[in-house]
Amino acid sequence: MADWNANQYLKFEDERTRPPRDLIAQIPLQHPKRVIDLGCGPGNSTELLVARYPDAEVIGLDSSPNMLAQARARLPKCSFIEADLTSWSPPAGTDLLFANASFQWLPDHPAVLRHMLQALRPGGVLAVQMPDNMDEPALALMSKVAGSGPWAGNPALASAAREPLPKPEGYYDLLKPLCAELDLWHIVYNHVMADHAAIVEWFKGSALRPYLDALAPAMRADFLAAYLVEIKQHYGARHDGRVLLPFPRVFILAVR
Ligand SMILES: C[S@@+](CC[C@H](N)C(=O)[O-])C[C@H]1O[C@@H](n2cnc3c(N)ncnc32)[C@H](O)[C@@H]1O
Repeated sequence: MADWNANQYLKFEDERTRPPRDLIAQIPLQHPKRVIDLGCGPGNSTELLVARYPDAEVIGLDSSPNMLAQARARLPKCSFIEADLTSWSPPAGTDLLFANASFQWLPDHPAVLRHMLQALRPGGVLAVQMPDNMDEPALALMSKVAGSGPWAGNPALASAAREPLPKPEGYYDLLKPLCAELDLWHIVYNHVMADHAAIVEWFKGSALRPYLDALAPAMRADFLAAYLVEIKQHYGARHDGRVLLPFPRVFILAVR
């Protein structure tokens, strides 16, 4: 897949940074020495960790050079690692592994969750948030648009959708045998979008990326226009013209 675009992602920085705020608020650690932000992106979540734990060594990890360049510029005093989460292990002495909106991109994220939790010392914390929105119209409509129009039949488009996440019970059975405490919860945010086009802009920075990568560049604008038509049909405008984007997310907090 093409590299991430930090500027596109940060067009909705306030909304995208709300879930890591809510996750950090639940972490039961007071004075961790080493904190690692897994899939740190442009450093928005890393910045929250630095603010909460000013005396800790806070490290950001990401596989995207574009995202890491933004993160390094934003937080020059932090260290950042370019690495792939699927083949990386935390160093001994890590107290907190934090991952906001990154694990859903991994091919077999449950296995990576287990691996990360197993690597922690007793009392260490794994704190994770992932979008749990594959049943939302905005996501289903990407697949619908991919299956019709001149691009239909492109095999790369057929595999552009992410797999739905496991249910909370699945995470419980996977992780609880490895930890002392496990807290699982959902929050549905209702993001206020300026208009329907803003929903398209939002997903251009995330879930639409694999679809756009799969398309020939000349077809991308038509694909986005067809997607916007569908979004307008499925999301009503409010009295002021704005559009609510319901966004369910799952939170996982494991204390080793
Ligand atoms: C949606 S952004 C999340 C950014 C930030 N944590 C936040 O709270 O907004 C997801 C990040 O996960 C990173 N990522 C995806 N797959 C990865 C992998 N296999 N290894 C490391 N990072 C990965 C991407 O490069 C991207 O920066």
